[in-house]
Amino acid sequence: MRFVSTKDLKPGMLLANNLYDNNEITLLKANTPLNQFYIDRIDKLEYEGVYIFEDGDVEKARQIVSDETRLKAIKHLKKLDIDACIFLANSIVNEIRNADSLIIEQKAICSHDNYTYVHSVNVDILSVIIGIGMGLSNSELEKLSQSALLHDIGKCDIPLEILNKPAKLSKEEYEEMMKHPWYGLSRLREKEKTGDEISAVIKNAVYSHHENWDGTGYPRGIAGTDIHEFARIIHVADVYDALTTKRAYKNAMNPADAIEYLMANAGIMFDIKVVNTFLLYIAPYPIGCTVLLSNGQQGVVIENNEKYLSRPKVKLSNGKVIDMMKKLDITILNILV
Ligand SMILES: [Fe+2]
Repeated sequence: MRFVSTKDLKPGMLLANNLYDNNEITLLKANTPLNQFYIDRIDKLEYEGVYIFEDGDVEKARQIVSDETRLKAIKHLKKLDIDACIFLANSIVNEIRNADSLIIEQKAICSHDNYTYVHSVNVDILSVIIGIGMGLSNSELEKLSQSALLHDIGKCDIPLEILNKPAKLSKEEYEEMMKHPWYGLSRLREKEKTGDEISAVIKNAVYSHHENWDGTGYPRGIAGTDIHEFARIIHVADVYDALTTKRAYKNAMNPADAIEYLMANAGIMFDIKVVNTFLLYIAPYPIGCTVLLSNGQQGVVIENNEKYLSRPKVKLSNGKVIDMMKKLDITILNILV
């Protein structure tokens, strides 16, 4: 399986993952051979790229959370159905706890218009994985998952022209965007008037997910452990997913560079303990990416070493596989695609 940028897709390539349109309807199923019509559609939906099968591949990529659950979460978020989100967040914890491996080794791909929702689901999954790594109990994980899925619920009160603006925001627009943690908290309080009480922890995490460890974040500018642990976890997951996703005004940063960004900001923006836990689960060179090796050769990452994620197995274009755990004189210089 190989990740191919949308601009490099060619008719005849075989799709490796299901693709969905902006209404969560299956656009293309895995194993579909691409034609020009499909490629144009993928381009129009502004997918950064897709996974395709290489010769001999038979299996889809391992998924930590099923497409079915992801699509349900997106639908509930779109409908602002907070009860359904809270219920589903618990199933997401279950799925993650039952996954064979928690290593994140696939690039997150989503179409442009669904970004806010897909992003919320990704942040939920990443947050729960960090929570497991930090030894949280099951009931804590459920509350963390609920908080993470709902963390950007306040964005529904941000005008769409700001939310989906295909360029950098102006100062005024950014100030409006910065109100979304408050809008989120207000939404949850509003919901409580017509239903059950929502845990104070969830309201706190939703309100505080843009606070920085050094006190330079918003809305309150609180610092260190005054920021709830869940908010510190969601902050790392949120920034990582945002950095590695293509938006209309910026390219996706590759995972290796995003990891560098997190490390450089540990103790500044982020809680060091949260960053260090995250690094145990995130593959800097995801399966399917094309890498440039220090010996000048290029290849595709085909398997990660779960103990040392920076030393994967790489398949060269001549079919030869380099196991970087055995070839210690070779390093990965860069991710090309
Ligand atoms: Fe946010």
